[in-house]
Amino acid sequence: MDDAKEEIRARLPVEDVVGQYIELKRAGRSLKGRSPWGVDKTPSFMVSPEKGIWHDFSSNKGGDIFTFVMEVEGISFREALEKLAAQAGVELQRYSGGDKAVAEKKRRAKEALELSCKYYQFCLTKNKAIIEYVTERRGMTRGTIGEFRIGYAPNTGKALIQFLTSRGFTKAEMEAAGLLNRFGGDLFRGRMMVPFIDTNGVIGYTARVIDQGGPKYLNTPETLLFNKSRFIFGLAQAKEAIRQNNFVVIVEGNMDVISSHQAGVKEAVATSGTAMTELHLKSLSRLTPDVRLAYDGDAAGVKATERAIMMAGDLGVNLSVISDYHGAKDPDELIQKEPRLWQEAVKNYRPAVDWLLDKYEENLDLNSGAGKREYSSIALKLLKYVSDAVERKHYEKLVARKLDCSVEDLHEKDLKMSSSGGAQRLKSVATKDVQVKIDLIRKLNDTLQALIIHGGVENKYGLDVTEDEVKIGELEMVFQNSYAEMGKAALEREADAIFARYKIEMNKQRIRVLTEELEKCADDEEKTQEILREIAALKVK
Ligand code: UTP
Ligand code: MN
Repeated sequence: MDDAKEEIRARLPVEDVVGQYIELKRAGRSLKGRSPWGVDKTPSFMVSPEKGIWHDFSSNKGGDIFTFVMEVEGISFREALEKLAAQAGVELQRYSGGDKAVAEKKRRAKEALELSCKYYQFCLTKNKAIIEYVTERRGMTRGTIGEFRIGYAPNTGKALIQFLTSRGFTKAEMEAAGLLNRFGGDLFRGRMMVPFIDTNGVIGYTARVIDQGGPKYLNTPETLLFNKSRFIFGLAQAKEAIRQNNFVVIVEGNMDVISSHQAGVKEAVATSGTAMTELHLKSLSRLTPDVRLAYDGDAAGVKATERAIMMAGDLGVNLSVISDYHGAKDPDELIQKEPRLWQEAVKNYRPAVDWLLDKYEENLDLNSGAGKREYSSIALKLLKYVSDAVERKHYEKLVARKLDCSVEDLHEKDLKMSSSGGAQRLKSVATKDVQVKIDLIRKLNDTLQALIIHGGVENKYGLDVTEDEVKIGELEMVFQNSYAEMGKAALEREADAIFARYKIEMNKQRIRVLTEELEKCADDEEKTQEILREIAALKVK
């Protein structure tokens, strides 16, 4: 695999890969551009063609072409590797020695799907009824039809099979692409075709009935290419806007995504009719921490929002809810009525916890003892997932006020619930604030290393210094950017100052970790004392 990486690196200059996403201008031996993550006014993103690396000063990220594509697309290393291999014309199977047959099957399935998509798009242009449905009933413009590659599957039962056969595809290959039904005929018949598109192209379809019976939507089954707990509908089209405007809107239906994009809210995606999974949220959280849910306000919507909150804390995601559809049943319907109302709705979001607490309240009688009991039980369960202590206190006070009791009463109930197993103790969760601190520590550490490696500052701090080529190159850019002009003495003073700061932040971080441990070992007196002593010692420093 390392050979494949090297081969790809040799064929794809870093400035070409980065240049697909941001505009680069020459600046001496490097190139400069605007960070795809920051809102920097001055270009703070640098690329070194010589070394094949990049560094972003606004977010303190950096690395080679693979890390760049991972970061910017929010994808895994494997996905980035596949994407860049395709661009470089490098065949990964040749290097992996892994399952060649599977890779070949995937490649053929991908080809069949791409071709079927073109075929369905063509069929749409030939059928008046479907054009009328798509443009009149669903209100799609030509641009939208093109961007989402909307098509039509003819109703004859084997139109696609005949077409793909004429292009040299076998039935087994069509089967692997998820295009056949269990009788070996076309799976999709007489339906509007909406392709699932990811970074690699078409991987499947959701297909809506036009007039005749059957389920409203028919979806591609799980295949080598399509995995529904991973796939996010519309992400390929939304990625750019999500990154730029730094938020994402998750809607329930695929058609809501399409309408939303047409209405100018291009940050919308959907999880394809299935409940959102941790994989979905994780991949979105790589692009932005601001996640807005636009689910229906029914019981299923409440459940889905609760589930999302349970996952959000761990991922450092800020969850909120968009719920005012002005009486429309979903965003699509609202947009058909008035696109402007949807544009406003996505700016009108409420923190998910507040929204849920309101929902609980709507369904219970808070004047009765039983209502108060139930409300406090679900509210306490929910609040465990609020990882920030100050934020949690805010909500505890709010709940206590609603119930006309004290925060201490709530804590007492909480203790009883925990000890009786009524609520599971939850994993500790990384909050956004903590993440910011960890980023700061990393940045200080990087700067120190840059001063040591490239500024000739003596490592009297006992810092671990990297031996990784890519990292060393990246640190050189850090050095060149800020310290190239400084004299020896100034560099040393700078390093001392940074180290002092670094030590303080490291101490604080250690205290945070210890405090978390403290909670976990509340029953173990000896351990508790030991941790408390360590915390006290750190605070003195
Ligand atoms: P809805 O029934 O709310 O669909 O289902 P919708 O998007 O409003 O559809 P239109 O506007 O009537 O065309 C929401 C989602 O549930 C999945 C689809 O992903 C749909 O987008 N679903 C629904 C299915 O997979 N199969 C179905 O038969 C129905
Ligand atoms: Mn709808």
